[in-house]
Amino acid sequence: MGNLNLDLIRAEFPALNNDCIYLDNAGGSQVLKRVADRISNYLLTTSVQLGASYSTSQAASEKVLSARRAIAELINAYHDEEVVMGGSTTGLMFLFTQAILPSIRDGDEIIVTDSDHEANIGGWMRLKNAGAIIKIWPVNHESLALELADLDTLLTPRTKWLAMTHASNVLGSVNPVAEVAEQVHAVGAKLCVDAVAYAPHRLVDVQASDADIYVFSFYKVFGPHYAVLWGKRDLLLALPTLNHHFIGPEVLPYKLQPGNVNFELSYGCAGIADYLMDVGTQLGELGNNRQRMQTAFDHFAQHEDALAEKLLSYLRSKKQVHVIGHDHVKNGNRMPTVSFVVANQLSESIVRHMDKFDIGIRFGDFYAKRLIETLGLQSHGGVVRVSIAHYNTDAEIDRLIQGLEEALN
Ligand SMILES: Cc1ncc(COP(=O)(O)O)c(C=O)c1O
Repeated sequence: MGNLNLDLIRAEFPALNNDCIYLDNAGGSQVLKRVADRISNYLLTTSVQLGASYSTSQAASEKVLSARRAIAELINAYHDEEVVMGGSTTGLMFLFTQAILPSIRDGDEIIVTDSDHEANIGGWMRLKNAGAIIKIWPVNHESLALELADLDTLLTPRTKWLAMTHASNVLGSVNPVAEVAEQVHAVGAKLCVDAVAYAPHRLVDVQASDADIYVFSFYKVFGPHYAVLWGKRDLLLALPTLNHHFIGPEVLPYKLQPGNVNFELSYGCAGIADYLMDVGTQLGELGNNRQRMQTAFDHFAQHEDALAEKLLSYLRSKKQVHVIGHDHVKNGNRMPTVSFVVANQLSESIVRHMDKFDIGIRFGDFYAKRLIETLGLQSHGGVVRVSIAHYNTDAEIDRLIQGLEEALN
């Protein structure tokens, strides 16, 4: 491995063709040209209402449907009807928690973590109004992990849902969702996973995750501002319609897409799967579509690990720096999203210094506010976060390190 052709890869992302070093990928990744081209192609050739008998409408319907099939394959859904699309993860989570609201009974227990992005907490918290009891699965302050032993003490026969993140957008850590699913299912509860910080770095496999609901945003995975919520078919079928009264509960996924999907963005997002398959093929993978995507991600992970370890090794050498999360890359234990604070310096001052070199990183709580608060990091103004994607280069990390060398007191 290690033979990613970064010139070819970077040529797929026209926005990288400037002097800015872009390391805010967990905020939003750059967009593939082929995705933008598909969006433009849809708008300029088939922007009509779906489902009519005339040829352009038939072509538009096929484009939108084929995109749904491509996304289903990208995430390994059992069926493309399980693929619900919408504007954002936050929006989809609010819709979803609205959809389950009628099923909530007084005393039902819902567990959320204190290390998630608020998108996978707030909607669940509101179910308190329907009588739910909300419990918090706290991050362990020593290991900075969500410990399975702590979860054990929270699960009861009354637990109905657990909401957690597959990877933390601040700590970069990966959570063992399949093991959690086993524990959660053992008490008859269901698992909802936010994979926004995971999907840009590993091939999503909703079946292997054994989650019941799995959601992420395409603008973090080389696409536009758009998102997907996958759910097990029987679970989705049992939900009431969120659409017009005449769109019945059996009409999946339309009943959960009030106002319908965005046609051009749906069509555009299929370009992400195309890209991954092409990269896999370039790397010599001759297997099926998912195997080609897997090969692409295997190489991405290896490259990202090397860049992240280079940065972490520099940060470890600075005694005034405290990495928030694992400070080594080991056996796929972390994403290349690296957060840190610096003794006696505000996080903002480090980031402003990097602005001078046109290096795009950022500081703050990244809407994982509860995590920043429980770890007592508000006094620094949150963390400095460097978030790497597969298209970043070794030379970019070198320039970042040079800049940090100046910025760190
Ligand atoms: C882990 C995580 N979950 C959820 C979100 C929210 O996604 P969206 O902006 O699509 O609502 C983000 C955005 O930063 C995120 O990092």
